[in-house]
Amino acid sequence: MHHLVVVRARVNGEEAPFVLDSGIGITLLGSAFARRAGVAARGDEFSGRRMSGQEVVLPLGEAGAIELGPFRREQASVGIRDLEGLPPELEGLGGFLSLDVFAGGVLTVDYARRELRTEPVEGVEVPLELHRDGPSLDAYLELALPSGRHVRVEVDMGSDVLILDERFAGDIGLDLADPSLDRREGTDETGCRYLRTFGVVSGAIQPVGAPALAQADPPVMLQSIVHDGLVGHGFLGRFAAVTWDLAASRLVVATAASAYDEVADAYSRALDPDCVDPVLAELVGDVAGSAVLSLACGQGRDARLLARLGATVTGVDVSDEMLARARRREAEEPLGIAYVRGDAQDLTPFPDASFDAVVCHMALMDIPRLRPAVASVARALRPGGRFVFSIVHPCYAGHVAIVTDYLLDHRYDKRVPVEWLPPYAHHRPLGTYVEELTRAGLRIERVVEVHHQAADEGGVPGLLYARVVKA
Ligand SMILES: C[S@@+](CC[C@H](N)C(=O)[O-])C[C@H]1O[C@@H](n2cnc3c(N)ncnc32)[C@H](O)[C@@H]1O
Repeated sequence: MHHLVVVRARVNGEEAPFVLDSGIGITLLGSAFARRAGVAARGDEFSGRRMSGQEVVLPLGEAGAIELGPFRREQASVGIRDLEGLPPELEGLGGFLSLDVFAGGVLTVDYARRELRTEPVEGVEVPLELHRDGPSLDAYLELALPSGRHVRVEVDMGSDVLILDERFAGDIGLDLADPSLDRREGTDETGCRYLRTFGVVSGAIQPVGAPALAQADPPVMLQSIVHDGLVGHGFLGRFAAVTWDLAASRLVVATAASAYDEVADAYSRALDPDCVDPVLAELVGDVAGSAVLSLACGQGRDARLLARLGATVTGVDVSDEMLARARRREAEEPLGIAYVRGDAQDLTPFPDASFDAVVCHMALMDIPRLRPAVASVARALRPGGRFVFSIVHPCYAGHVAIVTDYLLDHRYDKRVPVEWLPPYAHHRPLGTYVEELTRAGLRIERVVEVHHQAADEGGVPGLLYARVVKA
């Protein structure tokens, strides 16, 4: 599943995939795997609480040795439970590894490279409060909500979106009585009834004392729970890497590194530096003499196309490596383009209404948060200005075959990565694009669906282009 970190580990020498789950408390072995590894229930039990407050009682067994890479945890008490009913992609799972397995050391989850390491990263420190209850170990951090209120949330790699107790709805700008909110009632796998409300935080959340880690407008789920809340993969997984340094009770978060820094060379070799794209040019229209922002300009392909159409172009990208190639090309063949390092999700360096048009070619799928990006574009456009963008069509062709949840705005790992693109991207359903554009005051004027064999009629589209206009 897209938000889980799955690793191969061994219990008593028996190997299987395990979910690395900082929210599980106690390491849990599936009954079938426990039998294979020779771990039997020894007669005592562990009793813990689920987030909904329900008590969970697990028979305990003893694992002689749990090995995860260089970590070796001996004589560990583990819970044993049937793991039936897991999604098909978790078939064959040995169980869930808790923080206790590497409690004495340092473990780095490198999200950008998709690997685990034992060397710590350099980055922003976030103090953790560790809570031990016998064999169970949980970690909490203090999170500041947009209202300024501080809450103590569990750090749970096993969950995805931010989860908060319902009583904090007002602190994140939501009103539980708002009928437009998505509310779902149901029964969880333990038979416990729940009422969940899904929405988006108005404003930023950040670990207290770490403004560099602020996340603007994250999706959130509200429910009546025993904790203040939980932060999961939706928060951690957007950083380059996160080191769990449990001996020092802290996380170290490496924020740097755009995923494109790693592939800039290969990207530049794979694609012609001069973009020839008749659909893009047609949607952009007459930009001669206009101030145009090439957003997420990369090595400058579309920026150069715009400059050739007579626009005065500013190229913005978050990747230093991509920008270095764009600047090199500009030095070789000057077109008057200014390249600036910046984040599409926060264009505050540019004044309101400073551009006649914004063009974002093949990049919204690389930008983690759509809402702040679209809102930034709308703010930086003058009234009547155009925003033209192209994306991998979210509905068709290969794309829906590789995303795990069409209806969810989420980061997915590419099944067949190519060396000139990052191994992951962001999917959001078509309706989300329409909603975010509309919310930002951008009116859809044209949508063009294009398939790869441009010479053919019909076919199934791989790309979607749109032109929207600021009212
Ligand atoms: C597929 S490339 C497209 C580059 C260029 N527009 C083109 O068509 O060749 C995606 C670009 O988005 C940039 N990008 C990703 N996240 C970004 C962000 N938050 N702000 C600005 N640029 C971003 C990447 O660094 C990368 O250069």
